[in-house]
Amino acid sequence: MLAKRINETELTEEGQRLIVAVELPGENRVIGDAMSKWRSEEHAQGTFGYSLHPDFHVKGYATEVARKTLEFGFEHLQLHRIIAECDPRNEPSWRLMERLGMRKEARYREVEIFKGEWGDLFVYALLKEEFERVQA
Ligand SMILES: CC(C)(COP(=O)(O)OP(=O)(O)OC[C@H]1O[C@@H](n2cnc3c(N)ncnc32)[C@H](O)[C@@H]1OP(=O)(O)O)[C@@H](O)C(=O)NCCC(=O)NCCS
Repeated sequence: MLAKRINETELTEEGQRLIVAVELPGENRVIGDAMSKWRSEEHAQGTFGYSLHPDFHVKGYATEVARKTLEFGFEHLQLHRIIAECDPRNEPSWRLMERLGMRKEARYREVEIFKGEWGDLFVYALLKEEFERVQA
């Protein structure tokens, strides 16, 4: 996984994905990562994701990382709409998205098998104008 990610160093055309390391000043290690994917150039669509080491959960860092990742997508890539998906059982993840003002647009039923069980999937989305309104 690491070898694959190391080669994903740029986000200059649709289909590409960039995963950046999250560092905390004073901690001499990576504490998590954030992913941006450019889904469509024509339609200015993207996806993002985030993951932090459990030692750094519930401190507000993940929310800060996610907000910066959205900002990168809307301002640097000029995306119009960014989505993220999560398992409904992953409450910290969907709570984070709702904290950022994202809208739950779908719940796909039994769309994947996770640890031997059928799992649902939430899809959350945010438009650039909605992001800017929340930031203002
Ligand atoms: C999903 C994930 C990133 C969420 O992380 P998190 O720890 O809940 O997010 P934050 O650190 O931003 O925590 C926000 C909480 O910290 C609290 N908090 C504590 N101290 C804080 C501070 N100094 N500043 C801001 N918030 C603080 C907030 O009040 C909030 O609590 P609440 O949910 O009760 O309102 C994390 O669970 C994770 O990495 N999971 C594994 C990977 C994963 O599932 N990724 C997503 C795949 S879809």
